[in-house]
Amino acid sequence: MSSVPTRFSRLGSWAVVTGASSGIGRALALELAAAGLNVVLAARSEDALNAVAAQARALGRDARVVVVDLAAPGGPAALHAATADLDVGIVVLNAGFGSGGAFLDAPPDAHAAMVDLNCRALVASSAAFGKRLADRRRGALVLVGSIVAFQGVPFSATYGATKAFVQSLGEALVVELDAHGVDVLVAAPGPTDSGFGARAGLRMGQTMTSASVASAIVAQVGSRGTSFPGWLSKLLRGLFMALPRVLASRILGSVMRGMSR
Ligand SMILES: NC(=O)c1ccc[n+]([C@@H]2O[C@H](COP(=O)([O-])OP(=O)(O)OC[C@H]3O[C@@H](n4cnc5c(N)ncnc54)[C@H](OP(=O)(O)O)[C@@H]3O)[C@@H](O)[C@H]2O)c1
Repeated sequence: MSSVPTRFSRLGSWAVVTGASSGIGRALALELAAAGLNVVLAARSEDALNAVAAQARALGRDARVVVVDLAAPGGPAALHAATADLDVGIVVLNAGFGSGGAFLDAPPDAHAAMVDLNCRALVASSAAFGKRLADRRRGALVLVGSIVAFQGVPFSATYGATKAFVQSLGEALVVELDAHGVDVLVAAPGPTDSGFGARAGLRMGQTMTSASVASAIVAQVGSRGTSFPGWLSKLLRGLFMALPRVLASRILGSVMRGMSR
């Protein structure tokens, strides 16, 4: 099995997707496979990854499963090493999770565990794959942030802060890596139907489908900047952008408190 010529051919024949076992990452991997890319699928759940790999192969693409805990020490390095022999041109750093509830009520290690995956693993993978793409002077790096990245988020405080980290890192890399031929995109989705709500303990209200969010992100791969994939992301961005940050934060806090009950 091999890749077919597509608008992504200039970038390379393989795409790496973290968090590919579920939700947005799974949909991204299948969307990229449908677009002609071979895919590396990374997450912890081996059976779920194998099921996604089978779907990618059914589309005529090659697929490699990498079972890895990216939050563990050495996780990002293990993923990078497991792809060393491949012509990787697109890297989507999507693995992440959130939580709802009062900051002071969270178990002692919960905040650091979230920072480990959403920030530490993401910045380590950005550095390793960013260098690799820069060395070949072509490639696309996609960081999956969130619509909540643009103000404080009471009752999901650490999650909001991790996504502000992703947004800031991505905005900086858009500029720095442009000089090396690497297109950096920060994707900032709004509420999406996936495994996110269950893991976060949040009752999700209006959502978009993971497939529609993934399709909108893939349409932007190879461009630089921030994208708000899907109608709800754009609507919420428009609403919150019109407000002072402190007011946006208060409104989001009452929404999050309601969702975490
Ligand atoms: N859903 C939303 O409303 C929403 C909105 C904005 C942004 N986002 C962001 O979108 C991204 C994808 O989330 P999702 O909504 O698709 O949720 P999801 O269905 O829960 O998917 C999360 C993915 O991350 C992987 N993951 C979690 N912990 C991991 C670890 N320690 N090591 C490796 N992989 C790990 C999970 O796989 P395993 O459990 O198999 O490891 C899964 O594949 C996240 O960064 C999230 O913050 C989501």
